[in-house]
Amino acid sequence: MSKRYERLMKCYESFKAKVDFTPKIALILGSGLGDYADGIDIKATLDYKDIEGFPVSTAPGHKGRFVFGYVGDVPVVIMQGRVHYYEGYPMEDVVLPVRLMKLMGAEVLFVTNAAGGVNWHFECGDFMLINDQICMAPSPLIGENLDELGPRFPDMSEIYSKKLRDIVKKSARDLDIPLREGVYIQLTGPNYESPSEVRMVRTLGADAVGMSTACEAIAANHMGMKTVGISCISNLACGVSNRPLSHAEVQVTADRVAPLFKKLITASVQNIAKEL
Ligand code: HPA
Repeated sequence: MSKRYERLMKCYESFKAKVDFTPKIALILGSGLGDYADGIDIKATLDYKDIEGFPVSTAPGHKGRFVFGYVGDVPVVIMQGRVHYYEGYPMEDVVLPVRLMKLMGAEVLFVTNAAGGVNWHFECGDFMLINDQICMAPSPLIGENLDELGPRFPDMSEIYSKKLRDIVKKSARDLDIPLREGVYIQLTGPNYESPSEVRMVRTLGADAVGMSTACEAIAANHMGMKTVGISCISNLACGVSNRPLSHAEVQVTADRVAPLFKKLITASVQNIAKEL
């Protein structure tokens, strides 16, 4: 057994010793969106710091725990706070939680994030269903392959499941919530982009830019986990808007749209679970 896999198993054993719960869907909540977890039917929580070998996030606005519970009758595990590459963790640590949630039993990864709008048509507060991604951060699969989890050279032709995307689209339609669609690009951060960088990523085909998610989606796909993702366009990227960016602005927008976002997540989770 490789050292990497051994570490993951240690985390898993730590979880098993403390929590008796099998989630179907794993959710990661982005900046300002974390309090969704406080509103579900919580059965257990597990602080990251209480898991042996688990990376602990330092980003402002991010709590550091797993929440286990039910959205309707769907058993879920929610990451309240994620670990970012820009915090200085190796990619292996950044995606360890996703791998752990798969081992817990989750079949689907539902990712959310706050992102900058690159597409000229986007507005602050929009939701964007991620239909594909560009990962400009290093691949989380670099290094010895975890053969126990997936293949050395995994296919990435449908990182965001078409079937699950269709379910989210229908859920949004039923709720009358406008939903954009587009490509998410992950840069390393932590600095926001320059106007020229925003122009570059637009030229590359990105609609929204952020500092997370793509690496997590790669790790999930590596393990054969179906993935779906929604970005909250918390600000217009640099050059799209001519105001300087701040984390406070990201937070304020996320807070403003949180009630609608919660509705969309709840409906989507329940509709996805019906198809599993
Ligand atoms: N750029 C990168 N990451 C982000 C942004 C942005 O404009 N907004 C929220 N996360």
